[in-house]
Amino acid sequence: MSFPGKKVCFMTGASGKLGREVALAIAGQGYSIFFTWNSSEEQAGETLEQLRWVSPESQMARCDVSKAGEIAEAFRTFGHHFGRLDLLIASASNFYRTDLLEVTEEQWHSLVDTNLKGTFFTMQEAAKIMLRQPFLSRMITMSDVSAGLVWRNFAPYTVSKSGIQHLTRIFAKDTAPRILVNSIAPGTISAYPGREEEPEPGLLEKIPLQRLGDPMDIVGAVKFLMESEYITGQVINVDGGRMLY
Ligand SMILES: NC(=O)c1ccc[n+]([C@@H]2O[C@H](COP(=O)([O-])OP(=O)(O)OC[C@H]3O[C@@H](n4cnc5c(N)ncnc54)[C@H](OP(=O)(O)O)[C@@H]3O)[C@@H](O)[C@H]2O)c1
Repeated sequence: MSFPGKKVCFMTGASGKLGREVALAIAGQGYSIFFTWNSSEEQAGETLEQLRWVSPESQMARCDVSKAGEIAEAFRTFGHHFGRLDLLIASASNFYRTDLLEVTEEQWHSLVDTNLKGTFFTMQEAAKIMLRQPFLSRMITMSDVSAGLVWRNFAPYTVSKSGIQHLTRIFAKDTAPRILVNSIAPGTISAYPGREEEPEPGLLEKIPLQRLGDPMDIVGAVKFLMESEYITGQVINVDGGRMLY
């Protein structure tokens, strides 16, 4: 089934905390959403239910993005539902602490294959569709300010996010002028609806704007990039100035 008149977004990781808020905001901009989830079936179902209030034709599919074959399969399913692709949001990600001298091969795979390899093959599949289309399309990758910092005990995660920022520049150059490719690097985002969290001790002192990020701060950056026509290959830090330290 195809919706020629309505813009379409393919998004990975919309079952995530921030991911869901981004997906809902994009639907609110008049897009149909096709999103993937991996292990959180219940959260994915809730996301789909909320999306369909705004965008009834939205769809979801299970996909482990650490496996290129599953990404290709998700795009085949996408193709059965939608006839165009205007926007890719590559948000699927794993995040956990790994002590440098004790990182296992399994942890390396679960972090780097999900975050970096998964983003690469998702972008590759999206580009194959977008480059065939007669209109400008966009990709937004989700990285992290930690890509430009040296955090102790997060080596596979931060390396994967640095890699995503470099992939962003590579795809931006190689797919220009047909696809605009940018990355959003959030700082610590914490104010999810219905949840109050205390920031970790000392964190606010490293943030010049003296608060943690809100999902709406990220949504604002996504909307900005969805409108922009002359920005590509950039990383936008949405971090309250965290990178100034
Ligand atoms: N929230 C923050 O403070 C923050 C800060 C910096 C950067 N970011 C980045 O912003 C993005 C969105 O964050 P978030 O808060 O939504 O993250 P999250 O709550 O941790 O959600 C992670 C998402 O990635 C998906 N995922 C994990 N492993 C996967 C796999 N192997 N295959 C497919 N999907 C997989 C999860 O799906 P399932 O649960 O269904 O498996 C979930 O939808 C991420 O890229 C994150 O790194 C977030």
